[in-house]
Amino acid sequence: MAKTVIHYLCNACGGVQSRWMGKCPDCGAWDSLDKFSESREKGGSAIQGLVEIWAGDDSGDHQLEKAKAIPLPDIKTADIDHHPTGIGELDRVLGGGFVAGSVILLGGEPGIGKSTLLLQAAGSMAKKQDRVLYVTSEESAYQTRLRARRLFEDALDEVEKEEGAKTALDDLYVLADTNLARIIEQARTVQPRVMVIDSIQMVYKSDLEAAPGSVAQIRRCCMELVFLAKATGMTIVLVGHVTKDGQLAGPKMLEHLVDVVLTFEGDRHHSHRVVRGTKNRYGTTMEVGLFEMTGRGLCELTDASMLPDPSAVTLPGSVICPAIHGTRCLLLEVQALTATGFLGSAKRRSSGLDANRLAMLIAVLEKHGGLRLADQDVFVSAVGGIKVVEPAADLALCLAIAGAHYSKVIDPGTAVVGEVGLGGEIRSVHQVEQRVREVKRRGFGRIILPENLIRAVEQPGVELQGVRTISEALEALSAGPHGKR
Ligand code: TYD
Ligand code: MG
Repeated sequence: MAKTVIHYLCNACGGVQSRWMGKCPDCGAWDSLDKFSESREKGGSAIQGLVEIWAGDDSGDHQLEKAKAIPLPDIKTADIDHHPTGIGELDRVLGGGFVAGSVILLGGEPGIGKSTLLLQAAGSMAKKQDRVLYVTSEESAYQTRLRARRLFEDALDEVEKEEGAKTALDDLYVLADTNLARIIEQARTVQPRVMVIDSIQMVYKSDLEAAPGSVAQIRRCCMELVFLAKATGMTIVLVGHVTKDGQLAGPKMLEHLVDVVLTFEGDRHHSHRVVRGTKNRYGTTMEVGLFEMTGRGLCELTDASMLPDPSAVTLPGSVICPAIHGTRCLLLEVQALTATGFLGSAKRRSSGLDANRLAMLIAVLEKHGGLRLADQDVFVSAVGGIKVVEPAADLALCLAIAGAHYSKVIDPGTAVVGEVGLGGEIRSVHQVEQRVREVKRRGFGRIILPENLIRAVEQPGVELQGVRTISEALEALSAGPHGKR
């Protein structure tokens, strides 16, 4: 007989408790435990039930292997087989493509382009005759079809002219459903290589009392899908929403359950988008994929198209920095603005740069650079919507703030790199050769860098200006065309 079990689930961290408590013992959140009950069939959990449905008609391919502990050296190894999606920038972040039996979670703010990216990836795989099931639990099948018309106009031409005609996208299946059991049943029928679930927050399991979108539902649905992927070798891609502060909505536990976590970043008001890996059990998390949102979907960005122009007149408060993103070096522009504020409550705001780092750099500029910023509001931003997270951008940021404050510029064609220490010293950065090479390749003539790195660069091809302290670096600022006016 079915037995009902009652749990208390924390809606902050996803921890399960057997009794109600005012404070979650796992994450310390107050008043976050919600009661939920589930019925458990005798002799097995509901998870196994679903996989058994799948395995029911099959002759062993999908059967779970019987577990048996074996010595480590006896484990057979094989290279992890990455199956490319055909979208180069996405494959780069994934470490080569989708791995069979893995679960990928793609998070990002609403409207950033998650559905667009995954539909494009699904279409690209379908064109290579890899079967994909795209489960749309937020939009209707009709809306997905409309989006597809925008993305794959040519591929759908035939069928628009003549119903039933063969197209390149015949291996792309769409299902508009939110019920997990029905989704799994359809996956069994379609037998896709990859299943996309857009989004996991909307999927529910009918025998759970909890409401769709609640932590209990997301947790259970995600667990079952992970189990399904492992048991069948299908790759499952889950779309997850993020909350206002950028965390994946629902508990952190979702990230623990899956193999790969990707975040889709970018500013909705800019066209640049970045896919970043924050967890990857099959590859590095260093890589980023760059895209541009256009009228016909996401275009891969070759780094040439997003470049600052070396001959452009620089403005006070604007500095170019060679930043490393994964294995690539990108020249990015950081900008600063200072304006009169109130002593004691001056604002410090950053967009695309670390706010704590900014506070530290302002303190260094005050103490060792002679700037008076206590009554100045300071705003900094990474231009183009690509985040700069490296400490190697410190010096560029300092020169941008000082430039904005004194209305001085850096000579056109100059890039700046270096980490700033608390003592005002300029510290070395890694991969300096690669940065210098990129600066040269982009047509910039000079680079300001930590002095001790000058010897490390052989055949620079650009003028190297070494600096040891922040005050030395500030001397690089000149009145420029704006100051002379
Ligand atoms: P979408 O993929 O729906 O975002 P998400 O799934 O992350 O919520 O993308 C939404 C935005 O992208 C929408 O505002 C319109 C824009 N867009 C384009 O600019 N070009 C396109 O070809 C497509 C399909 C969308
Ligand atoms: Mg969407």
